[in-house]
Amino acid sequence: MAAIRFEKAQRWYPKAASPAVAGIDLDIADGEFMVLVGPSGCGKSTTLRMLAGLEEVTAGSIHLGGRDITTTAPKDRDIAMVFQNYALYPHMTVAGNMAFCLKNAGVPKRERDQRIAAAATTLGLTDYLDRKPKALSGGQRQRVAMGRAIVRNPQVFCMDEPLSNLDAKMRVQTRTDIAKLQRQLGVTTVYVTHDQTEAMTMGDRVAVMKDGELQQVGAPMDLYDRPVNVFVAGFIGSPAMQFLDGDLTPAGVTTAGHTMPVDFTREVRGPVVAGVRPEGWRLTSPGAGIPVTVAVVETLGADAYLYGTAKDSGADLIVRATGRDQIRMGDIVHVTADPHSIHLFDAGTGNRLN
Ligand SMILES: Nc1ncnc2c1ncn2[C@@H]1O[C@H](COP(=O)(O)OP(=O)(O)O)[C@@H](O)[C@H]1O
Ligand SMILES: [Mg+2]
Repeated sequence: MAAIRFEKAQRWYPKAASPAVAGIDLDIADGEFMVLVGPSGCGKSTTLRMLAGLEEVTAGSIHLGGRDITTTAPKDRDIAMVFQNYALYPHMTVAGNMAFCLKNAGVPKRERDQRIAAAATTLGLTDYLDRKPKALSGGQRQRVAMGRAIVRNPQVFCMDEPLSNLDAKMRVQTRTDIAKLQRQLGVTTVYVTHDQTEAMTMGDRVAVMKDGELQQVGAPMDLYDRPVNVFVAGFIGSPAMQFLDGDLTPAGVTTAGHTMPVDFTREVRGPVVAGVRPEGWRLTSPGAGIPVTVAVVETLGADAYLYGTAKDSGADLIVRATGRDQIRMGDIVHVTADPHSIHLFDAGTGNRLN
């Protein structure tokens, strides 16, 4: 069993004004693929490094398989780390890189060779075992870094932005490969990225961080459908949800001079923030919706995204239309949102209301 538990785990760097990780509580199930996502500097790497034992925990505790590992030496944690820069030994071959920590751990040669051969087969590296890293492509180096983690048969994989150094196409391919491999191996994995698309496509669950604090933990579509606050709502999803200042009344939410009914029963009245994703808008006839001046049309084929501003309030909006709608820059369209696709947030705290 390799379930992980962070209990009020905090990292406060000496002399820093605030903690880098502010005492997080997080449970990761055995075999789960958990993604930590958030903007640069929010504490993702620090959290991962605390788990791997590379960063001191200043308060709280971390548990692995029911065992408190808060102060356990990194080498005794049975956690394999894959770094963004791969950290391969340049003078060693692919096989040498994979063998290195097995040798240190005293694994006999026969077994080392077996494990390396198996990992190489899994990763498609069999033909490259005698090459040095400099003779490999970025994607191949990335796979060697993965291989080095796999051969250890660890209880946990920790991966810190392992795709950042790959070009866009390779990133998409490798994203799928890693997700598949993780499911095949069933090893508990904590994966750090700043890229919400990676988080959405790879994780069983996603933990969104901001300023050293966990904002929300859930399955990708839970975060997408019910973000707990304006931050998560704006961070998860691409193109992003846009927000309109509005007023909540018994008739619905009034924003940009137009009232839209909402699925909302609680007795809250007054200023709110209404968030709508691009696919939540519908084009309507003039007079029946919010007039929007279209600034940019991004045609992707089947879909077209209209980037515009509400004429009355100047608020930014992104509307998904179809590629055949023939809307051009400078056009004025009218839009309204379905009641169930309006996310309501408290205007003061930014917390979800509906
Ligand atoms: N060794 C360190 N000493 C002091 N502050 C650090 C150190 N490492 C990271 N930090 C700070 O901690 C915060 C979180 O950093 P990090 O965990 O690397 O963020 P992320 O990986 O989400 O980009 C940042 O404000 C960063 O400047
Ligand atoms: Mg980082």
